[in-house]
Amino acid sequence: MTARLNVNIDHVATLREARKTIEPSVLEAARICENAGAHGITVHIRGDRRHIQDHDIEELKQTVTTYLNVEMAATDEMVAIAERIKPDAVSLVPEGPNEITTEGGLDVIGNFDSVKNAVDKLKAAGIHVSIFIDPDIDQIDAAKRSGANQVEICTAEYAELTVGSQAASPRFSDPAVSAELSRIAAAAEHAKSIGLIVAAGHGLTTSNVAPLARMPEIEEFNIGHHIISRAVFVGLENAVKEMLESVRNI
Ligand code: PXP
Repeated sequence: MTARLNVNIDHVATLREARKTIEPSVLEAARICENAGAHGITVHIRGDRRHIQDHDIEELKQTVTTYLNVEMAATDEMVAIAERIKPDAVSLVPEGPNEITTEGGLDVIGNFDSVKNAVDKLKAAGIHVSIFIDPDIDQIDAAKRSGANQVEICTAEYAELTVGSQAASPRFSDPAVSAELSRIAAAAEHAKSIGLIVAAGHGLTTSNVAPLARMPEIEEFNIGHHIISRAVFVGLENAVKEMLESVRNI
């Protein structure tokens, strides 16, 4: 089974917010991604609103025809936004004010009560709940106990080992890469075995996604930065198609 691809279009809004203007349009980006074959659209509404704004989520809810997944922190403010707008899915993520991007999975064990409270409210609103999590069995068990429907395995460590922050060629020969792939595979197998849907994301590119796409437990990828970066040179439609090919071509 080929995994679904949700395209994270945050960086279309990053570019718009750089000028506080109306272009490029997040809605147009979503439409192009869907027409290119993306299975869903993912956006992250951050506490500091550095890219996606509240009105973007409202408008995306009206226009996305595939699947709208909104990443957010498990705070009362964010949960209230989700309860009001009701996207198809919410992915709970950790959030630090000074981080450049999400830095790792949510510590569900350490924040169990607040996470469970958010999961309960979101599920009561009819929203599918995913938790972004490191490939750690204990955290996955805690996600299951919280009542989440899905976990998204954080692939940041794998991305750093393969592509790296300098976007050099993938270093697949590094034994640390096989070790990290085994850790992700074990986490995915465990999550599926206890009834969770399994997704993966963070730092994935057309160069490093294949070993993950071969893992049958992973049903969904959330990929943003690489697709939007490629779009600068080849256009968004082609960039989405390239990634769909890479996810399929295993
Ligand atoms: N999944 C989650 C939970 C994320 O927070 C992010 C980054 O916003 C992504 C996937 C996408 O990561 P990238 O932009 O590196 O593809």
